Amino acid sequence: MKEKIRVGLLLGGQSVEHEISILSARNVYEAMDRNKYEIFLIGIDKEGRWHFSDERIFLENGMKTRLKSLPDDGNFLVLVPGGERQSTFSLYHTRGNMPVDVIFPVLHGTHGEDGTVQGFLTLAGIPFVGAGILGSAIGMDKEVTKRLLRDAGIPTPHFRVFHPRDLPKMDFAALGEEMGLPFFVKPVSLGSSVGVHKVKTRDEFFPALQDAFQYDTKILAEQFIPGREIECSILGNDDPVASLPGEIIPRHDFYSYEAKYLDKEGAILDVPAQLSPALIRKIQETAVHAFQVLNCEGMARVDFFLRGEDLFVNELNTIPGFTAISMYPKLWEVSGIPYRELIDRLIQLALERFEREKKLKTSYEG
Ligand SMILES: Nc1ncnc2c1ncn2[C@@H]1O[C@H](COP(=O)(O)OP(=O)(O)O)[C@@H](O)[C@H]1O
Ligand SMILES: [Mg+2]
Repeated sequence: MKEKIRVGLLLGGQSVEHEISILSARNVYEAMDRNKYEIFLIGIDKEGRWHFSDERIFLENGMKTRLKSLPDDGNFLVLVPGGERQSTFSLYHTRGNMPVDVIFPVLHGTHGEDGTVQGFLTLAGIPFVGAGILGSAIGMDKEVTKRLLRDAGIPTPHFRVFHPRDLPKMDFAALGEEMGLPFFVKPVSLGSSVGVHKVKTRDEFFPALQDAFQYDTKILAEQFIPGREIECSILGNDDPVASLPGEIIPRHDFYSYEAKYLDKEGAILDVPAQLSPALIRKIQETAVHAFQVLNCEGMARVDFFLRGEDLFVNELNTIPGFTAISMYPKLWEVSGIPYRELIDRLIQLALERFEREKKLKTSYEG
């Protein structure tokens, strides 16, 4: 019998999306084929400690939102210099070597989706699902994302970047003139619509800036694109493929934190979206192009605004939600890849990329 692949599911994390991550991870965990995989749960609590846990400890305790840290059972993960694979470090849990072949980081946001965990796993020489360090870091930074998109000729809403030192010079009238009214103000590297504001009047301007600066040291002012919100899922490394697009129809002024998480009827997900074949093709091509330009690997969800026939890329998510109702897996489901098979493919892509990178020379032989 073929040996099972040992998969570490990394979940939780020090991010505002901790609980969403656990919901996603629980769905991934339940869907994985036990004949193919041996599964290990690695929970990161809100204090940032890595626990090598059994199901009971993390999937249950971790959901208690007020619980900052998990019970200390002494079974933490550590990174030890001196690699067993061809790497300089090894991951151990306090009772022995960590026996995984691949890690699936089901983490969202800060310290999960931003390249930090990807750097840690790269040092440890462990294959992992999704974008590497660079693609993850780019995807987390809306300024860098938008500059690269613009450079590649992929339309994205017009924007300006501001630092706290710019505050005294920030002029509502001038920005309104440049962007049109309303315009958006948002932190550069957050998610879940936290700190995102639609600014319509002068009175709303400074409170929006102040709020956005609470979350980040860089903020964006961005042209408002009235229209539809369309999302497309991408899967692959060198030869990525695009799913059918889906549509988010928010029932609020925009797709705010409330609409995403607090209001059960805050938004409708229309899957697949009602679009002409020509527009579907254009969305898929643009999504693949953006995925490649931004150095993504494995998976990503590409989010668009559609105004008439004009398409703008808003952002990319390198670790999209994986709950049963999340857009990323739902789009693959209607495009012919069921949830369980999607997980198989993502793990295969992680292993393939690792093997390919292992072949790169690490010394110059002339
Ligand atoms: N330029 C824009 N034009 C129209 N709507 C926008 C714009 N920017 C943001 N929004 C609205 O705000 C939501 C959250 O903004 P987004 O940039 O996607 O932040 P996040 O990374 O937190 O999801 C979007 O889903 C959309 O509803
Ligand atoms: Mg978004």
